[in-house]
Amino acid sequence: MTFHSDYSLQSLNTFGIDAKASYYASTSSIDELRELLVQTEGRPLRILGGGSNILFTHDVAGIVIRNNIQGITIKSENETHALVCAGGGVNWHQLVLWCLQHNLGGIENLSLIPGTVGAAPIQNIGAYGVEIKDVFSHLEAVSLEDGSLKVFRQDECRFGYRDSIFKREAAGKYFIAYVYLQLTKTDHRLNTAYGAIRDTLQENGIAEPTIHDVSEAVISIRSSKLPDPARLGNAGSFFKNPEIPAAQFEALQQQYPRIVHFPGSDGRVKVPAGWLIEQCGWKGFREGSVGCYDKQALVLVNYGGASGREVFGLAQRIINSVEKQFGIRLTPEVNIW
Ligand code: EPU
Repeated sequence: MTFHSDYSLQSLNTFGIDAKASYYASTSSIDELRELLVQTEGRPLRILGGGSNILFTHDVAGIVIRNNIQGITIKSENETHALVCAGGGVNWHQLVLWCLQHNLGGIENLSLIPGTVGAAPIQNIGAYGVEIKDVFSHLEAVSLEDGSLKVFRQDECRFGYRDSIFKREAAGKYFIAYVYLQLTKTDHRLNTAYGAIRDTLQENGIAEPTIHDVSEAVISIRSSKLPDPARLGNAGSFFKNPEIPAAQFEALQQQYPRIVHFPGSDGRVKVPAGWLIEQCGWKGFREGSVGCYDKQALVLVNYGGASGREVFGLAQRIINSVEKQFGIRLTPEVNIW
């Protein structure tokens, strides 16, 4: 197991922030990870996946381990369903493409989401009406405390909107080695209700879409709205869409009759953070190397050479201005390290 010291994480985070880890190693099996746990003698470890939902605001004084467990297999199947197992280090979109090639349905709406399979359940990735929790069976994780293997079933993960037990009680305690998804082989349950998907399919004259058509529609929508991290540093949505009490929403609606909204959980109302940020005039804003993306205000970008502190500074200014205008406090969706 090779450790690198003073290791630049710049190519390992999609924001492209040049932070350094005191020590860094990549691991591609559970045995390797266990060996590493012995070597590091209980010192705290931080696990890195695809680095696509993270903002480094300083160097990481400690040990960073990259989850690089590969492999996709069908573990079991019957006439209608297949249980697919993927390594935590597999690129998420590669898994989506593999499933499409094998004609397995369920994650086509989650096409082109950056990041790794192991990170996907942590924030319950979601897009266009589907979340990973909808097809999730269970996962196998290694305890960073004692190296033991623990299975987390669907209900044990306590999935919520961009949320799970791995962001709460279990935060920083596990290395997600394998994720198991229950996918359809026949009678795919297509989710095309989301406005942008419906419109794209209609524009392409597709009346009876397949899982492949849905994936292509999602890819075209995402590519038109979200910056490609390979070209422009970003971590997708920077903030969560806030849910506010119905009474607060009604008062806001009086003032802003065109406010966009969706039903939230427990009778609350979900308001798109992108809309709030745009109303405050931030969309397309740029100062030095940081900015608010001009096609989707929820995305903060690094035009090149920005520090994590600069991105975080812009985020703070946006949070303050949205709070001042709407009385709603945005919370980051990305992990701030
Ligand atoms: N909107 C604006 N201005 C903007 C951006 C959005 O007015 O600058 C409005 C849109 O017109 C639309 C509404 O807000 O009416 C929703 O916009 P969009 O469909 O682009 O989705 P979103 O709520 O901004 C969420 C997810 C995305 C996911 C899309 C599609 C969160 C934090 N973000 O964004 O996820 O791709 O829905 O399902 O929930 C991510 O998590 O990194 C991510 C990209």
